[in-house]
Amino acid sequence: MKIQIADLEFEQLLSYEALQTRIKQLAKQLNKDYENKTPMFVGVLNGCFLFMADLVKEIKIPCEVAFTKLSSYHGGISTTRRIRDDLDLTVNIEGRHIVLVEDIVDTGNTLDYLVAKLKKRKPASIIVCAMLVKPDALEYEIKELKHIGFEIENEFVVGYGLDYMELGRNLKGVYKRVVS
Ligand code: IMP
Repeated sequence: MKIQIADLEFEQLLSYEALQTRIKQLAKQLNKDYENKTPMFVGVLNGCFLFMADLVKEIKIPCEVAFTKLSSYHGGISTTRRIRDDLDLTVNIEGRHIVLVEDIVDTGNTLDYLVAKLKKRKPASIIVCAMLVKPDALEYEIKELKHIGFEIENEFVVGYGLDYMELGRNLKGVYKRVVS
């Protein structure tokens, strides 16, 4: 079934159930890796909000949750490369084990910038857990990118936190653009 968001058409790529199944697997690994480490999950807003909520509900070890906000798409369907630092982390991460929670990694420009910025604050460790990655679009080698929900084609997607012109974030699944 196709859905319309503003001027574009989309069809389902990943169902809510598929997302939840994968999130449980990711959380299982994180529960094991971070036992006795009290990790800090740092979400990159806005897109991460549903993924972060579902992921941390499956975390069974003591953990903290914090957010930062960056933007680079500014409403369209391709990155502008200009990263806007909208909200910095307000917590001290020195000596902490950081798990960056990202919605989607496209060129990797945003993540490369953020990882470099946070590393200067001397965390004990830092890794990235991204719900979606577009391997064919990736232009940076980001060795911290350890956990990936799904690798997808180089196509524009919305839903489950991701937007098109700020619309569609509330969709339960992930939808890809129908190019006719
Ligand atoms: P990158 O810096 O090119 O990796 O882009 C990362 C950011 O662009 C993500 O955090 C999203 O906010 C946005 N983005 C990338 N691809 C998509 C997409 O397919 N749909 C919606 N937003 C996207």
